[in-house]
Amino acid sequence: MGSLAVAGGHPCIPAQTFEAATKWPHYGPSELEAVSRLVTKGEVSRSDTVLEFEQEVCKLCCCRHALTFPNGTLAMLAAMYAVGIGPGDEVLCPSNTWWGSISPALWLGASVSFCDCEPGTLCLDPEDVLRRITPCTKALVAVHLWGLPAPMSELRDLCTRHGIALIEDASHAHGARYKGTPVGSLGDIAVFSCQASKLLPMGEGGFLSTDSSDLYEAALLIGHGDRLGSFSSTKTQHRLAATGAGIKARPTPLVAALGLHQLRSLRRHVASTSEAFRALETCLDSIGGFARGQTPGDAGAGRVYYEFVFRYSPEHFPGVLAPDLALILQKEGVRCDICRYPLLHQLPLFRVQGDIRDHANSSSSTLVDAICLPVCETLQPRLLSLPAIKTPTLELAEAYDAAFRKVSAHAETVVDLCATGALHE
Ligand SMILES: Cc1ncc(COP(=O)(O)O)c(C=O)c1O
Repeated sequence: MGSLAVAGGHPCIPAQTFEAATKWPHYGPSELEAVSRLVTKGEVSRSDTVLEFEQEVCKLCCCRHALTFPNGTLAMLAAMYAVGIGPGDEVLCPSNTWWGSISPALWLGASVSFCDCEPGTLCLDPEDVLRRITPCTKALVAVHLWGLPAPMSELRDLCTRHGIALIEDASHAHGARYKGTPVGSLGDIAVFSCQASKLLPMGEGGFLSTDSSDLYEAALLIGHGDRLGSFSSTKTQHRLAATGAGIKARPTPLVAALGLHQLRSLRRHVASTSEAFRALETCLDSIGGFARGQTPGDAGAGRVYYEFVFRYSPEHFPGVLAPDLALILQKEGVRCDICRYPLLHQLPLFRVQGDIRDHANSSSSTLVDAICLPVCETLQPRLLSLPAIKTPTLELAEAYDAAFRKVSAHAETVVDLCATGALHE
């Protein structure tokens, strides 16, 4: 086993093993050929490739409509606009997610109410959601965090009983299933980001999916003006055919071409990453001081893995902070980091009340106190994350196992290094 790399020992994971296994995205000759064909034909702004991509998305999500956007944030804006979010409304959302899950609500004049997570899954806690519903609540954003589907049966039931729209944020969960049903068809409307690190990497890009023709037609007003002309003259879409709602949010077909090809290899990639991370979870659970990040219950069978989160135990590493433990693991060649999402309810953007334009003008003294969300506030600082393993190898699995066992076995040294400040000398 030897001594810790941070104390002069040999690192467990050679850099090249790691780089090869985690390289992403994988683009090959078929993507290059598809993009080059579009560029040669001059189809860089409009092309049927976008419609072809949307047809494939409908198959993936088992729904009738899909609509592509330049990124997930704009797809969320369109989804929120479609369900009718506007001034005076409240939108519920988890705090331990990326800001694009919810920031479009502010641009539509609504306010945000953050909910706590369930300690095992890290996804929304339906009991906390219920406590936060008010007469102004218009929608709930359920995020399938790190690829694990949120508890959609309970959330669907809550939303139906209270007349609230249910928006899925499936940006971490392309290809996942919940109790056998694909994500993207579990709420009223769903949003996916396809930014380069995602399971379906399109460079930048995003899409929404829905089974509702009404929601699809309303979403078209955000940025898809060119599709509005065909509506009958009695529809709003026809009246607004020249402008839509005044925002342009059409994707370039080049990203749809990448998406079409990536869809073909999605299942294969998801399967190999899942196999590697399921094995790593079992390994971590057997090592003192570390544990899997999410204990999924019912939703585990159909989950996928975007990044991989795991926990460390403050009892095994007393007084050790996540950034210091991350540094010690990094020295062993484990490219882990602290969980990169700050809790949203503590961020200035979400603590200024009123119009979104006030944010740029206000000083920090005008921020309202952050609410308290005890579960995510306790757990988030104990989370570490690893980039996705895209090409698993036995060599990497053994090296991860060795690195975690070594750091666990040297817990006393780790605690000393952190307590005395020697780690940063
Ligand atoms: C959970 C989640 N929602 C929304 C977004 C926003 O997507 P985009 O970056 O494509 O605008 C992201 C992007 O990282 C995300 O991770």
